[in-house]
Amino acid sequence: MAIHTLNGPHGPAWHLATPTTSWLLAIGPLGHLELLHWGPTLGQASDVDVAALTPQWPYTPGVVVVADEAAAPTYSLGRTTLAWSGPGKGDYREPGVEVAGENVVDLRYVRHEVLEGVVGAPAPLPSCDGDDDTATLVVTLADEVLGLECDLVFTVAAAHDVVVRRTVLRNVCDVARTVTRLAAFVADVPGVGLEAITLDGEWLREAHPHRRALEPGTVSIGSVTGGSSAEHNPGVVVCERGATETHGRAWATNLVWSGNHRTALELSWTQTLRWVVGEHPQGFAWELAPGDELSSPEAVTAYSAGGLGGLSTTLHRFVDDCVVPAAWRRRERPVLFNSWEGSYFSFDHGRVVEMARAAAGLGAELFVLDDGWFGHRDDDTTSLGDWTAHAGKLPDGLAALAEEVVGLDVGFGLWFEPEAVSPDSDLYRAHPDWAVRVPGREPSLARHELLLDLCNPDVRDHLVEVLGGVLDSAPISYVKWDMNRKHSDAGSPTCPAGEFHRRWTLGLYDVLARVFGPRPEVLLETCSSGGNRFDLGMLAFGPQIWASDCTDPVERQDIQTGLSLLYPPSTMGAHVAASPSHQTARHTPLETRFAVAAFGALGYELDPTALSDDDAAAIREQIAWYKERRATFQFGRFRRLEPPQGFLRQWVVDDDARAIAVHHRRLVPAADLGHRLVVPGLGAERPYLVTIRGEGGTTSAAELAGVPLQFPASGSLLAAGLSLPLEMGDHVSHLVDIAPLG
Ligand code: GLA
Repeated sequence: MAIHTLNGPHGPAWHLATPTTSWLLAIGPLGHLELLHWGPTLGQASDVDVAALTPQWPYTPGVVVVADEAAAPTYSLGRTTLAWSGPGKGDYREPGVEVAGENVVDLRYVRHEVLEGVVGAPAPLPSCDGDDDTATLVVTLADEVLGLECDLVFTVAAAHDVVVRRTVLRNVCDVARTVTRLAAFVADVPGVGLEAITLDGEWLREAHPHRRALEPGTVSIGSVTGGSSAEHNPGVVVCERGATETHGRAWATNLVWSGNHRTALELSWTQTLRWVVGEHPQGFAWELAPGDELSSPEAVTAYSAGGLGGLSTTLHRFVDDCVVPAAWRRRERPVLFNSWEGSYFSFDHGRVVEMARAAAGLGAELFVLDDGWFGHRDDDTTSLGDWTAHAGKLPDGLAALAEEVVGLDVGFGLWFEPEAVSPDSDLYRAHPDWAVRVPGREPSLARHELLLDLCNPDVRDHLVEVLGGVLDSAPISYVKWDMNRKHSDAGSPTCPAGEFHRRWTLGLYDVLARVFGPRPEVLLETCSSGGNRFDLGMLAFGPQIWASDCTDPVERQDIQTGLSLLYPPSTMGAHVAASPSHQTARHTPLETRFAVAAFGALGYELDPTALSDDDAAAIREQIAWYKERRATFQFGRFRRLEPPQGFLRQWVVDDDARAIAVHHRRLVPAADLGHRLVVPGLGAERPYLVTIRGEGGTTSAAELAGVPLQFPASGSLLAAGLSLPLEMGDHVSHLVDIAPLG
């Protein structure tokens, strides 16, 4: 059992135990939930450990508020380490809960329950699965004055070293209460010498990691854009100062939520870090009628003593095994060709078939028709909402096209942007009231679009019916579900303003569940102008996300490196596009573009009918080579190797079958002395056959220089470092295949 109930000095205590991690929770002298430890395993923790870790308060510093002087004369909530906290009783740090019109919310122990398995979030909230060794602790606290009960839910997926947190607030009195904040997670962690890493960015530059020392005060990241956003990913890492990929303690939280969110890291003068994760409280006001309850989304948490790499490995396994839809867990993803950068809006039936035929000839398994196939959409100003075939481009209809493509022995995939509506659309003309707006204000446009009101059940029913109808009308095995605008003018006649953002995101989940739940074999890749909504909530419905509209491999190295902190390669849609890049105008070798996209769910996004013979042959070889190694690329253990210098990026992925490393040299340094690739962590004495790839699968310059491209090596030699060929030119990547011999 992953959860052990113990006796603490003041009441019950609990040890949440995974092979490498322990949480020790205890009820404090006044009934608050204290966090005594979150970090390395305590082994078989006992009552003695609880007592040893329980803080002693021999005296009270002069001005500190003592919550209950009669019961606990020296006990101050502001000085203890808590796993939950409300305002108004002497803890001035960021609270987990707030109630409108109330300056005090004081939740104290009532009861607890330990259950086998997962106690998941109520639908339509997404919920993580557990493993064979999963148990759930529910600690119920109550504020008797306000008539509120609060369940603090801890699900321990022990075999995955992950604890999932969630909070439920229940109104047990006979008047309505308005909740203005409800966090999924609160934890106080002793904080000497800690750093925070966040993934921040914007369109085309998503998920750039930023690392900073935590000093007294609050570092917060969040989104009020309506989506989880490219500006700040909801996942956050805290680590020891100086932690590396392989050394140092590191903790992570990530929210299973795709809407507004906020994470606050508040370091107090006592060098304790208050860590709060949840929906963003800005504008949030949720009315809880008597008897009603409100559940936060889930927050996934992990700890590793093995540095940032160890933390990523834990999170990757959990996402692959317990977050993405069951039908797609550890299931290899098809190599696809997407039409967007190859033909944008200009295509017709014949041209799509031609492109699909060429793609099939190169080894593609799926052809995806992107934007522009519906209504009268020839640019991005019209037709969102009218999900019927464009009569001019596809006069024979969608089914005829899909069937012809499928007849070429590739799957057929289709783009949608269901959450938006164009003012120039039949849907908008029929239902102007279905667009999000605040009465009396003209709603603003973004990419010429309005937002559909997913708070409104009629809108949701319409989408479920129309999208389901399209999917059932033709052999469509993949959907790219896009969303190209942030929220503005947030209002719906169906709910108060303070409930809009949460209800809208729940509405999105409801539609996704109803469209894809009955069609689990349709591969769903979500997208929001690229990676504007790369989060665990979307991954619970679709196992991969288009990581960025930037297909330039140099920028993509940064994006995928950043995302890899929290998300496995299988989740990152990654495409080889044309050179020069449509986003940066940078010229890069085809092999470099492949070497980046291969560390994800590989696709191509260029015109396959316009390739030179050499490029076509190279792509055919790349796809065949990738397919043989696909399981390793998508589901192996991915690690960021520490680059010896800043102009390099190195990654490796390995499983029992093989390892594949890549060395990306971004710029040629002056006086380049050569490059080494250090691949630690393989079987030390195991013999491997090492093959270094170069442009077009060969390395002619290296051959000329006499560098061997294929040779046997042991795991210990690989850990010492391989010498790589010196090739001139910027943006050169070398993939290195490391296959066990014998
Ligand atoms: C968004 C997506 C792109 C593409 C276009 C189509 O920008 O991120 O991949 O689908 O929309 O309009």
